Formats: sequence, C-alpha cells, structure tokens
Amino acid sequence: MKLWGGRFSKGTEKKVEEFTASVFYDSRLAEEDIRGSIAHCQMLARVGVLTARESSDIIKGLEEIRQEIRQGKLELKAELEDIHMHIEKRLIEKIGPLGGKLHTARSRNDQIALDMHLYLKREIVNTVRLIAGLQKSLILLAEKNLLVVMPGYTHLQRAQPILFSHHLMAYFSMLERDALRFKDNYKRADIMPLGAGALAGTTFPIDREYTAELLGFASIYENSMDAVSDRDFVLEYLSNSSILMMHLSRFCEDLILWSSSEFDFIEIDDAFCTGSSIMPQKKNPDVAELVRGKTGRVYGSLFNLLTVMKSLPLTYNRDMQEDKEPLFDTVDTIQACLEVMAPLVENITVKKDKMKRAVEEDFSAATDLADYLVNKGLPFRESHRVVGELVAYCLDEGKLLKEVSLEELQEFSPLFEKDALTCLVPLKVVEARKARGGTSPEQVKDYLEKAKNMQREKENYTG
Ligand code: ARG
Repeated sequence: MKLWGGRFSKGTEKKVEEFTASVFYDSRLAEEDIRGSIAHCQMLARVGVLTARESSDIIKGLEEIRQEIRQGKLELKAELEDIHMHIEKRLIEKIGPLGGKLHTARSRNDQIALDMHLYLKREIVNTVRLIAGLQKSLILLAEKNLLVVMPGYTHLQRAQPILFSHHLMAYFSMLERDALRFKDNYKRADIMPLGAGALAGTTFPIDREYTAELLGFASIYENSMDAVSDRDFVLEYLSNSSILMMHLSRFCEDLILWSSSEFDFIEIDDAFCTGSSIMPQKKNPDVAELVRGKTGRVYGSLFNLLTVMKSLPLTYNRDMQEDKEPLFDTVDTIQACLEVMAPLVENITVKKDKMKRAVEEDFSAATDLADYLVNKGLPFRESHRVVGELVAYCLDEGKLLKEVSLEELQEFSPLFEKDALTCLVPLKVVEARKARGGTSPEQVKDYLEKAKNMQREKENYTG
C-alpha cells in the first residue's frame, strides 16, 4: 500500500512507477531531507502539535535512518517514488504509527522545495570556495611571470603588447564577478519554503520562523503559493554556472591556442594532458578541451529547466521534479571543472622567450609610435595615418618597425626624433600603459595585491 494509497482501488502500473520515480537521483537530497524533518519535528513539539516524547522518538528514528543511508543500507525502490517516501516509510517501519505523525502540517511540495534550498545553499558555498581555488592559481602564475611580455590580441590578430600576468588577471576579474553572482544567488536560496504545505499553508499552529532559525535560514517565503511554485533560485544557479562556464571555456581556448606549435607560448604539464593512440608524438590539451566542451551541457541544463518551468500554472506541478537532474549535473560539472583547472593552471610552464620574440617580431608597437607623434603635437587621426603608411612601407620592404632607420622614419613625418625608436621596446610599451587598469607592471602589481585579499576572503566563505 502506498503512503497515499487510500483513495485508489488498484495498484500502480509497474511502468508508471518506474516512470514517475525520482529516488534514483533525489536520494542525493537525503541529508537535507532528514535535517529538514528533524527541524520540522522540533518545531511541531514546540507549538504543541507533537508531545516532547513523540518528537524525540521521531528524531531518534530519523537519526538512525541517516546512519543507515550513510552506510548505504537503505534500499531504493521505484515503487516508493522519492527519497521523502523512502525515509517516511522506513521511519514507520522502525517506530510504528508514530512515524506517520512526522508529515503533519507538511506536504511533499514544501518538503522538496526545502530540500532544494538547503542543498543549494551548501553547494553555493562549495562553488564559491572552488572559484577562490582557481583564482589562487591564477595569482600564483601571474606573480611568477609578472614581467613576461606577450602579444595582446583583438580579432585574434596581434594588437598591442601586454603582460602575461595582465592577461591572467583578466580571468581573475571574471571569476570574481562569477563568485559575486553565486553569493547573490545564496540570498535567494536562503529563504525557507517549509510551512507552505501543499500550496495554501496549514491549519496547524506552526511556527515557521522557529523552523527557519533551526535550519539557519535568513528569512521565510511570505506567500505559500510562491514557496511551492518557483525554482528561480535553481535557475539562477544554472544561469550563473553558464556564465562561469563561458568564462572557463574562453580561458581554456586561450590555453589550447597557446600550447599549440603555432603559438608555442606555454606548456601544459604532462600530468594534465593525454596522448594519442596512433600518433606517438602527440600531447593533447584534453582537460582544457573537455572544460570547453562541458560548457554545452551546462547551457543545456539552463535551457532544460527554463523550458520545464515556462508556462507552468501555479502551483506545484510534477514537471518540477525535472529540476533535479540538470541541477545535480551542473553542480558536478562546474565543480569538477574548477577543481581540475586550479592545479592545471598552477603547473603551466611559460615560454617567456617565445612570447617575447612574438612581440618583437610584429607591429604591435604601432599604436605607441602613433602616440609618440601625438605627444609631438600631431592630431591622433593624422598620426594614425602616418604610422599606417609606415607599416605598409615596412611590409613592402620586409622590415620590422625597430629595423627602420631614423632617416626613413622622418620621410613619413619630420616629427620623429631619435627617441622614437626607444618607445618600440616591448617592456617600455607595456610600462607606458600606467593609467588605472592598464597593463603596466605597477598597475598589475597593484591589482594583484587587491586580488589576494579578495581571494582569501572567499576561501573562508560560509554563506
Ligand atoms: N519527487 C517530487 C519532486 O521532486 C516531490 C514532490 C512530489 N509532490 C507531489 N505532489 N507529487 O518534485
């Protein structure tokens, strides 16, 4: 007999049991479910719906079940639908009809909403800390290579020289905003739905504030229908994760490009690469590729749940059971990506000379030469044209800017003087970008100092 079997005249079709069961994935919420039930039970005793004795017997039973689950002793069965039913059934088995009192003033609708909130709060904390872990690796690699100059790109064409450390710290900043988004998400996960009942609230004199306090929630849902209907806090996590993965995929793309023979700027450690089954010479950046690839499933999860939730009438609908797999998969995916990327980044070998040569062998100091003329009084639009013509000349002659003589320069503009050529030295080019947020070593050092504080603060984030 099902726990809800009273009004039914026959049993459920086996296929239907299998089709509707969620326990094979929502058993992951067992800890939260028991925690929520214990708090609910304590509250029921406090308001006098249960006696102190009843409450402590139920709690004792729940604690034993928690142990059984931890030891893998609770058998999961499709006919018991979900983790809530498994635990309740087991409780009744253990302590008798008293176990049936646990579900007083509660519905599975507010119960599952509660479990999801508790679960997400915990996983947001884990996510923020893992972001801090990757940020730490970025800081370490940036500090180790503070003054390494490399070409900066727009349109994947060499644009202006930059510091490698500046490039890394761009990703630090993106991750910082990602972490802020997750922390903000925490506020919406930190609202307690329990006490909403199935949808309309309950006739029992419950004390929702007390349950919220026991479970460490900052506030409670003010509207019972809202409490059981929405999954916006889950969607927010999926959306934040999608943005995070977008960032990681771009970083990975940079790493993949840089480690190719064509760029040859970095070497990813052997421990983070794999080989080819046919080509003996190959060393492939599979980890970075997989992170890039897994971005697809995280976006997919976001669209999955957005589509599930679209147009659902209030309040709870069974469709919403489909919120779990995309969320669990996303939590697993983004956390695994962050976990594997942190040591990968920390162990990157930087080929400073290759980067430097790349900068010296291109025209990426052209803007600085134009700025030079501006400092001599020429309007920027003019100087842009002059240097453009000079570059065209160099390309014809097969010369680099630094190989052009002063006489040649002066044919393009009489404003060029001897010091024009010194502004072409890569480190000078970089040093000149002293304005706030630029790539000069002093700016990057400044940001690194701030970044270390932001990183440390998140390592100890507790929600
Ligand atoms: N397994 C269900 C879910 O995840 C729990 C809530 C079930 N509620 C219901 N009325 N059938 O959504």
